[in-house]
Amino acid sequence: MTEAEGADWVPAGVDRATPSVARIYDYLLGGAHNLAADRAVARRLTDIQPEVALVARRNRAFLRRAVRFMLDAGIRQFLDLGSGIPTTGNVHEVAQAVDPAARVVYVDYESVAVAHSRLLLADNPHAATVQADITRPADVLNSGPVRTLLDLTQPVGLLAVAVGHYLPPEADVPRVFATYRDALAPGSQFALTHLTNDFAVLADPRVAETMRSTQDHIFPRPRAEVLALFQGFELVEPGLTTSGNWNPERLTAAVLPQDDGLYAGLGVRHRDARFETPAR
Ligand SMILES: C[S@@+](CC[C@H](N)C(=O)[O-])C[C@H]1O[C@@H](n2cnc3c(N)ncnc32)[C@H](O)[C@@H]1O
Repeated sequence: MTEAEGADWVPAGVDRATPSVARIYDYLLGGAHNLAADRAVARRLTDIQPEVALVARRNRAFLRRAVRFMLDAGIRQFLDLGSGIPTTGNVHEVAQAVDPAARVVYVDYESVAVAHSRLLLADNPHAATVQADITRPADVLNSGPVRTLLDLTQPVGLLAVAVGHYLPPEADVPRVFATYRDALAPGSQFALTHLTNDFAVLADPRVAETMRSTQDHIFPRPRAEVLALFQGFELVEPGLTTSGNWNPERLTAAVLPQDDGLYAGLGVRHRDARFETPAR
């Protein structure tokens, strides 16, 4: 690494010595917005589990399938929690290819992810980025972009893809997601992937240990805890499965669950659900 690495794209204040999952994930997906410290962690993870990059790609493919599923159901507005550094097949690209007026709000707390989302969306009147910690739903739901771009009286596609496992138990993760759920109109949909140790692929304790050297520690959760995050939503077929196997158009499993480290599911907010638009 040269001292100037990233000088033209790393926002001021970013601690270059502390890796972030946004930049590690960017590297695993073949992106260019990562630093030496991030790449070192990505390589360590790959040494422990060579499937890591494949798990990342499968997760990203799930995201695109989930957005298309929501579009097919008529959803035209999306709230993407823990959206990451823009890469191919971003939510607004998938959505606006179907309907140029589809609206998307991205949320991330990582400065590189936010800066690059903002750059990418500079000329896009229907999409914006909020820098916020998703464990503070009020900050997200009351943010300018959510207020101006999303109509919470109409169905929203809520995405929490590969982010829940960065939220520590003390954040009360079920409460966090229940707060978002309660702000969603009936007919809204919720797509989530979540790291688990239920399958062998990422269960190696060295994975969590390696992530402790980053600013994003991981908290894999068992099936019952992940399923509980869908309370108030009705899971569509194939139910809670793994990211490589979630495909309503092809219900036969394509990937052995033990090779898949992430649970994945998509739920529909009950038609008769009560909901509260956040206080404004
Ligand atoms: C593995 S990436 C997933 C990106 C994208 N959702 C996807 O699946 O392709 C996880 C992202 O969640 C963000 N993140 C983690 N914890 C967060 C929090 N508490 N609030 C906001 N963003 C968070 C990270 O900065 C990172 O960009």
